[in-house]
Amino acid sequence: MKKIRITIINGSYHQKGKTIGIANEFTSLLEKKLYKYTLVINRIELNNSKLETCRGCKNCFSNGICRLDKIDDMHKIKRILCMSDVVIFSSPVYLKMITASMKLILDRLAYWTHIFKLHNTLGIIVLSAATSGINETNAYLMDILSHLGISVIGTIYNDIYCEKNYTNFEIDRIATMIERIIKGKEEISNDLLERYFKSFQYVYKEFVKNNKYDAEINYWLQNDYLSKKTYLQLLEDNDGENVDDE
Ligand SMILES: Cc1cc2nc3c(=O)[nH]c(=O)nc-3n(C[C@H](O)[C@H](O)[C@H](O)COP(=O)(O)O)c2cc1C
Repeated sequence: MKKIRITIINGSYHQKGKTIGIANEFTSLLEKKLYKYTLVINRIELNNSKLETCRGCKNCFSNGICRLDKIDDMHKIKRILCMSDVVIFSSPVYLKMITASMKLILDRLAYWTHIFKLHNTLGIIVLSAATSGINETNAYLMDILSHLGISVIGTIYNDIYCEKNYTNFEIDRIATMIERIIKGKEEISNDLLERYFKSFQYVYKEFVKNNKYDAEINYWLQNDYLSKKTYLQLLEDNDGENVDDE
């Protein structure tokens, strides 16, 4: 039976809170809908993980390496992300934003936002709020996850005094999409990914013209990103697992 590897990253401080409750309910409904597959579900509790905040040294951008990865759990998290077919980013809304722990890991993945490292990965956003801030938080996450190369296929959330705002129809839609993508019948690019890829490609072509080389441009050259006409072409040419080459 084909395996679908799903990772839930929980940025809530409550391991039995609303946010993880929604993510768990959602994944158990997905398990029912995708009963023909073996779902391997991994949970990363950010607040149980040893994670250092980014120090802003920019070593990742120039050398492709974060020195902090050696002293905390980030290397392990990166490996899990590379091996996942679907990543569920779940966070409560804090002041119309993700929580600090979710922001922390995104900062630590900043280099990956320049190299579309997580192409071939599907993303689902799970949010929980008391009254407001879902739209702002969702827009932010959509943007950053797309820069990571992730194709975001749905958002599941609670708001207005924790009323459930997602329906079985939405879960059906997401499950069907996952199945079609896993079977290779659906493409996972979208307008946002195409736009971001094009603008980065333009910048890195200028780098080459000006003989400016660092880890990012080397990654683009080694992976032949500059020759791709579209992000979709990159996905088609790099079909399979993302490589953890750090
Ligand atoms: C510091 C802090 C800031 C918050 N900011 C917002 C907010 O901007 N908008 C909102 O609707 N709820 C806000 N909330 C409420 C949480 O988003 C809400 O209670 C959420 O469901 C908690 O999820 P959890 O049970 O996983 O911790 C905030 C809560 C805290 C502790």
